Amino acid sequence: MNELIIKKCNKCGALVKILKDCTCAECGIKCCNEEMKELKVNSADASFEKHIPTYEIKDGMIYVSVNHVMEEEHLINWISIVSDNQEVTTYLEHGEEAKMIAKYIPGSKIYSYCNKHGLWMKEVK
Ligand SMILES: [Fe+2]
Repeated sequence: MNELIIKKCNKCGALVKILKDCTCAECGIKCCNEEMKELKVNSADASFEKHIPTYEIKDGMIYVSVNHVMEEEHLINWISIVSDNQEVTTYLEHGEEAKMIAKYIPGSKIYSYCNKHGLWMKEVK
C-alpha cells in the first residue's frame, strides 16, 4: 500500500487524496458536478528530468530533490514519500528549494506534484 492516489477536478483544479475509494461502479467522487479523475504518474507531456524526484541516501536518511523551477506561477507544490505504513509530505512555496529529508525506507515511493504538469513518481531502491 505504498501508492499515493490523487484525484483532480478538471474544472476547478481541486485535488483530493484517496484513502479508500468507493467500490460502487456507478459513482465516484464528484466536484463541479463531474467525476474527479485519478492522476496518472509521469504521464504529462513535460520534461522527466525536471519533474521526477531524485534522491541520495546517507546515514539512514533520504535526501530528495526535484530539479524544477520554484516560481510563483510554476512550482513543485509538494513532495511525498510513501511506504507501507508511513507517508511524509513536505509542502513547498515559491522561492524555496524543491527538497525534503526523511527516514530512508527501502521500497518506498517518492511523489512530486507540479502545479502545471501533475504527478511524478520515483521508486526508492
Ligand atoms: Fe512543471
